[in-house]
Amino acid sequence: MYHFTLYLKGSFYIYMVASMDEAYINEIRKDFPILETKVREGVPLIYLDNAATTQKPRQVIDAISEYYLKYNANVHRGIHALSEIASEKYEDAHSKVAKFLNAKFSEIVFTKNTTEGLNLVAHGLRNLLSRGDEIVVTRMEHHSNLVPFQIVAKETGAVLKFIEMEDFEKLDLNSAEKVITDKTKLVSIPHMSNVLGTINPVKEIAQIAKEHDALMLVDGAQSVPHLKIDFKNLGIDFLSFSGHKMLAPMGIGGLVGREEVLANYEPLLYGGEMIRNVDYDIATWNDLPWKFEAGTPNVSGGIGLGVAVDYLQNIGMDKVHQIEYELTKYTLDRFEELDFVKVYGPDAEHRGGVVSFNVYNDSGQLIHPHDVSTLLDENGIAIRAGHHCAQPLMKSMHIPATNRISFYIYNTKAEVDRTIEVLKQIKDIFN
Ligand SMILES: Cc1ncc(COP(=O)(O)O)c(C=O)c1O
Repeated sequence: MYHFTLYLKGSFYIYMVASMDEAYINEIRKDFPILETKVREGVPLIYLDNAATTQKPRQVIDAISEYYLKYNANVHRGIHALSEIASEKYEDAHSKVAKFLNAKFSEIVFTKNTTEGLNLVAHGLRNLLSRGDEIVVTRMEHHSNLVPFQIVAKETGAVLKFIEMEDFEKLDLNSAEKVITDKTKLVSIPHMSNVLGTINPVKEIAQIAKEHDALMLVDGAQSVPHLKIDFKNLGIDFLSFSGHKMLAPMGIGGLVGREEVLANYEPLLYGGEMIRNVDYDIATWNDLPWKFEAGTPNVSGGIGLGVAVDYLQNIGMDKVHQIEYELTKYTLDRFEELDFVKVYGPDAEHRGGVVSFNVYNDSGQLIHPHDVSTLLDENGIAIRAGHHCAQPLMKSMHIPATNRISFYIYNTKAEVDRTIEVLKQIKDIFN
């Protein structure tokens, strides 16, 4: 079906390239045993919920088993062979992430997830805030990049301000210019919206923040897994991301922080591992990044993250983006043919692999996303439906929820075709 459609477009060259890409993606799919799952009898899984979490390749799963089967030990503690291997591999994973994001080893703090990294920054900010100071976020935040700053603002008497959006598609840079002032102590924006898919101009906003001596934090939950990131070049101070959204296990993520900033920043957790010297009444902190990794870390998760990074680098982040761009463009083009689907967010050139949409019946009534996703699920198609942890954004768009398709490296255009076929059936059921 997929080949045939392209062939009809009349370009044998496109056909050949598409076939090659399809073969390439089929090779990738072989690394993900879960994609062979039949969630309903005889119905193959179509997994389109990658912004929530991605599937894990065999290589990552094997690395975790290998740790538990062959060298399970605590890190940085035992002077014994297993602990030395575990410590080396855990540190090696930090090096891999550092290289992947063009940051220094000392700048890579392993966390539980994006949320923990954002909370770490919010917590440390308390020391830098006085009454009347300002924190700037955007109107398109995930709750994780909003609620921690609401709390810190309340506790310190600081004021929370917002960069506005244009047409619910992109951030308004004029608004950023206005709202970021000498009172601003921190600006935090999502690199990519998990609802609209918009890729935000991080570098430009970081430049404005810098002109006002404000720290710049980026919520990289939806960008680090999908885009080529150069931490140094972005000109930001912090970047937080989750491993589970980029092929790694649950419970591991990272906060990248500029060395000079981390050196003077307050840790979120205190205790073992993060100290250098302790007396009964005082303690001093360990070197970076360990100062921010209190207690026994998630060693297997960290090692798994390192292997996930290897896997993505083998493909190449430009290729990852290209695969997702093509799927997104294809989906947006196909949705444009359907008068019963409303899509949110910008064109494919300005977004990542996330497509939020709603479905309406012939009388123009909204078919609730929960109904749509339940019926898709009956056909083996996994999407996300709801407010996507962005309730303020939903409220300002005057919609209760959306359906959301989100792609990763193993998705195919045939899966998009099948999803659209089922969406047509759903619309008919609700007529
Ligand atoms: C933009 C954005 N920020 C933050 C998060 C929180 O990520 P986690 O739940 O892994 O901490 C998510 C998760 O979906 C997200 O999409």
